[in-house]
Amino acid sequence: MNRIDKELETLAAFSDAPAPAVTRVVFSEQDLKARAWLKRLCEAAGLAIREDAVGNTFFRWQGTDPALPAVATGSHIDAIPHSGRYDGTVGVLGGLEAIRSLQATGFQPRRSIELILFTSEEPTRFGLGCLGSRLMSGVLPTSADATLKGSDGATLNEVRTKAGFKGNLESTLLKPGHYDSFVELHIEQGPLLEARRVPIGIVIAIAAPASMRITIEGQGGHAGAVLMPERHDAFLAAAELALALEAFAKSTGSVDSVATTGVCDIHPRAINSIPSRVVIEADIRDTDGDRRDRMIVSLEQACVNMEAKRGVRITREFINRDAPAQCDPRIVGTVAGVCDANGIAHDRMVSRAYHDSLFMAKICPASMIFIPCYKGFSHRPDEYASPEAIAGGVKVLAETLARLAC
Ligand code: GLV
Ligand code: MN
Ligand code: MN
Repeated sequence: MNRIDKELETLAAFSDAPAPAVTRVVFSEQDLKARAWLKRLCEAAGLAIREDAVGNTFFRWQGTDPALPAVATGSHIDAIPHSGRYDGTVGVLGGLEAIRSLQATGFQPRRSIELILFTSEEPTRFGLGCLGSRLMSGVLPTSADATLKGSDGATLNEVRTKAGFKGNLESTLLKPGHYDSFVELHIEQGPLLEARRVPIGIVIAIAAPASMRITIEGQGGHAGAVLMPERHDAFLAAAELALALEAFAKSTGSVDSVATTGVCDIHPRAINSIPSRVVIEADIRDTDGDRRDRMIVSLEQACVNMEAKRGVRITREFINRDAPAQCDPRIVGTVAGVCDANGIAHDRMVSRAYHDSLFMAKICPASMIFIPCYKGFSHRPDEYASPEAIAGGVKVLAETLARLAC
């Protein structure tokens, strides 16, 4: 087995779910153990380590001109409940492998090369994705330290402090110009590369994600005694909204419009009690930010109509509402040049999933390298990328980093 495949296997074992599933929630015991293990690997590769107050971790291979802005790569190792072993991890361990492979050739970078482990790319714990890169890029104000709460009700400050990451969140902020460039290696999480038998995707844009929390207050009551015309069932209002949202996404005329109602909490959640309060959370995305916003406006109007239709009260808030990112032509061209020089077929593509690159693109030129994954499966235990696909991605990443760092 290749070193990186062995390391992916080892990392997958830091999990709160039995294999092949992986659950590794940020700052859980397994996450902290995995971070410690990764730090040992990076130390062994001679990389200098820095951690910021939210746990973003920077592994630096010092260049011959260390004053120059560094070239960065990296991704995340947190994994949503019951997911797979490749999402994010290929970009972290692949970044390390790329650095080690360059070291093995005797290459000396002029700019430093920095591998970044981003904290909490997944929204599992704090309800908000890309926590680390949002803070780095200043998109999330540092006041979130006190206001953002985890699933157990503790604030970000309490959770990170307990995990050993102390200090002022201001220190997480990176200024534009801090990095020369950023390139993230990731599995595609979609089926296109595999279907087309193209080994490398070069990301030219990242879709605009938004998510909303919608709270519906109806009237509870006895499931036997309250007659149907008298009801104000909060769950039925929620169900209609979820279906309406599906219809909005299907009616834009573009396959790039997607919407998902992935959370539905029902109160009091009793089989013989009419739901009196329901909270749903909807994820709405599009490669075109304006078209995404039109779906949001339609959903907001549907909420107003639903209040009148079912006699319920609806409040809504945005969890996030992010703009799409355009990737940098210089980085895209560099990756394409590496592929061409090696006779590797490649497609330019958009990323429909979000990534830390969405926020890194706000502070430096950025792009992503995608590799195929089995049937496009992701966020599920049978997520799979072949050793060949991973090795190919690492090779292209390594040469890209080398060119950018020259
Ligand atoms: C990232 O995991 C996403 O949901 O796009
Ligand atoms: Mn993910
Ligand atoms: Mn990911």
